[in-house]
Amino acid sequence: MSQPHSARMYDYYLGGKDWFAADREAAEAVLGRLPKVRTGARANRAFMHRAVRALVREHGVRQFLDIGTGIPTAPNLHQVAQEIAPESRVVYVDNDPLVVEYADALMRGTPEGRTTYLEADVRSHDIVADSHVVDTLDLEQPVALSLVALMHFISEEDEPYEMVRRLLEPLAPGSFLVLSHATGQFDPEGAAYFKDIYATGKVPFAPRDQQQVTRFFDGLDLLEPGLVATHRWRPDAPVVQSDSEIGGFAGVAQVRQ
Ligand SMILES: C[S@@+](CC[C@H](N)C(=O)[O-])C[C@H]1O[C@@H](n2cnc3c(N)ncnc32)[C@H](O)[C@@H]1O
Repeated sequence: MSQPHSARMYDYYLGGKDWFAADREAAEAVLGRLPKVRTGARANRAFMHRAVRALVREHGVRQFLDIGTGIPTAPNLHQVAQEIAPESRVVYVDNDPLVVEYADALMRGTPEGRTTYLEADVRSHDIVADSHVVDTLDLEQPVALSLVALMHFISEEDEPYEMVRRLLEPLAPGSFLVLSHATGQFDPEGAAYFKDIYATGKVPFAPRDQQQVTRFFDGLDLLEPGLVATHRWRPDAPVVQSDSEIGGFAGVAQVRQ
């Protein structure tokens, strides 16, 4: 509680109420210098909504494995999917113990569908083999692996590209990867400042440029419009913000059939 944590700082940016004083102080230090971080967080959340809707509506996806879920912020992924297809199943995974406190909210899905919650660290736990996943999802059928605003918390020494390959490997052909990622490409000084603040909570921050983020999609078929600034992924309304204000990239890709 005395150290800032990424999930609770993100909740603060989104205007939520689930944070401690240390999180507020660190988040205010970020927002004081980089007020656009709030815009970027909202754009990131909105990307998740659009991507999930597109997969459920256009590709018939009914199963989601969402790693780095965050503190519940309605609408959560299962609510977006189950609103269109009530039978959708979702497994949520996060390593913030506080998120467990809210697991109830995450698991209140439709009676036809299922939602489960697993507390685990993506760096050390074999998530796809966990009983929460195998008992909830049918791994013979396509699954959308959602890594939304997660991989920039995984530094090179934890082999982020290998990690994503390993997570996708057991999934059925035709599965999907939904990924968004912070970048320092448009504002290297801002990203360095952000990294310093997160270091106070021992949270590693590893922003990557477009080429580096593209590597997560190697060997997969990127859906249109490819890897773009987060707010440019199939926007619902005309885009008004600059890419620098958003500070992240996003894409959705399919595992070859
Ligand atoms: C910025 S939030 C993103 C929340 C949500 N996916 C979204 O985009 O709205 C990042 C989440 O990743 C979680 N996280 C960070 N490192 C993680 C790790 N090594 N294993 C599992 N979860 C992690 C944090 O606890 C936090 O909830």
